[in-house]
Amino acid sequence: MEKIVSLCKRRGFVYPGSEIYGGFQGFYDFGPLGVEMKNNLKQLWWKWMTKEHDNIVGIDGAIITNPKVWEASGHVKSFVDPLSECKKCHHRFKTDDLGDKNKCPDCGGALTEPKQFNILVPTQLGVIEGEKTNAYLRGEACQTIYLDYKNVLNTTRLKIPFGICQIGKAFRNEVTPGNFLFRQREFEQWDLQWFCHSKDTEKWFEFWKKERMNWYKSIFTNPKNLGFYKHEKLAHYAKMAFDIIYEKSPCEIKEIEGIHWRGDWDLSGHSKFSGQDLSYIDPETNEKFIPQIVETSGGVDRTFLFLLIDAYTEEKDPAGDGASRIVLKLHPKIAPYQVAVFPLLKNKPELIKKAQKIYQDLRKEFNVAWDDRGNIGKRYFAQDEIGTPFCITIDFETLEKETVTVRDRDTMKQERIKIKELENYLKEKLNE
Ligand code: GAP
Repeated sequence: MEKIVSLCKRRGFVYPGSEIYGGFQGFYDFGPLGVEMKNNLKQLWWKWMTKEHDNIVGIDGAIITNPKVWEASGHVKSFVDPLSECKKCHHRFKTDDLGDKNKCPDCGGALTEPKQFNILVPTQLGVIEGEKTNAYLRGEACQTIYLDYKNVLNTTRLKIPFGICQIGKAFRNEVTPGNFLFRQREFEQWDLQWFCHSKDTEKWFEFWKKERMNWYKSIFTNPKNLGFYKHEKLAHYAKMAFDIIYEKSPCEIKEIEGIHWRGDWDLSGHSKFSGQDLSYIDPETNEKFIPQIVETSGGVDRTFLFLLIDAYTEEKDPAGDGASRIVLKLHPKIAPYQVAVFPLLKNKPELIKKAQKIYQDLRKEFNVAWDDRGNIGKRYFAQDEIGTPFCITIDFETLEKETVTVRDRDTMKQERIKIKELENYLKEKLNE
């Protein structure tokens, strides 16, 4: 974990939030490479959900909603973590995380009885003191999907079963934020809410469990590190819950995504609190019912971090006299850059001109890095460390024969490719 945190800072993947003010616990910023990688990841998820599945559409809902939403959802009452406080040093702990529930892990002092601590983040809106409206930042992104469920039904031709998906921020006043991106106070979730008939819920639950696992397996470097965990203790809304976990997590947090059978909890709650009828009428049978919901709710930031951990490799560089290299063996479509372009020498204008032309052409299709510093070995080293799958060198043979060398990140093998075939060559490789 320390190596990943340091790589993230050093190469511009993730920075501590508000760092010049000494930081702010549980908040992080994504740097230039981090934002590219996160965007690639979100685009892959979005495309897979909405373009590669039938009957799924997306929304982008507001972060602040009418505060009644959180009463109806049960979060005001039940979104609580038991908290224990040390009577001596006054440090606070999530009771569930404590080995000895009576002794402070920091100073050995006695702990208070656990108190229920609500982790919704409150906020106030309005300008006149005393007349401000209390609201909450959303504690789980999915609630907006339930609020828009009727609008989506009325404005599309979807019929049950169908899904609504969303990628968006959620906020939690975590008692113990920590372990880098794993437990933050502001984080991003990717959710699918699948609306179905009660007779089919079990079938869809199994379908989505398998489907989501297959997706994660398709993007992790070592899919064997992924597994399922069945929850015995359930959240207030869930009837059955499985987590997709990363077995080799460097800390106690292994969960990447939860697959939840939410039943009719949410739509019934919102029907009751809003006074609106949120039931569905089957156009063929005229049956009227509140749909059941199967949810897949994953953490974008946790996936991001687990992917880095899974891809991080230190190995001997056979080309470098036994020296070691750090390689992020990220899925090529997720890496911040897909390609890097190097002119062999910085002081040869004819090489720079040719390399610039190739760089500009490739940028129309791929995320491309340009590097003309130091020697080629150092440039490979710098690109391996950030996971760039292909490095292209423009040398004197390029000027004569219209070919370049393409070097593969993982095998370190080099191939000579004609410039006019380069784009197709890279596209094929990226889709392998
Ligand atoms: N709508 C259901 C829901 O929110 P959850 O298991 O509480 O379920 C879903 O959250 C995912 O969000 C988790 O699997 C995890 O990846 C991510 N997540 C939850 N709390 C987080 C936190 N404090 N920091 C980072 N990611 C978090």
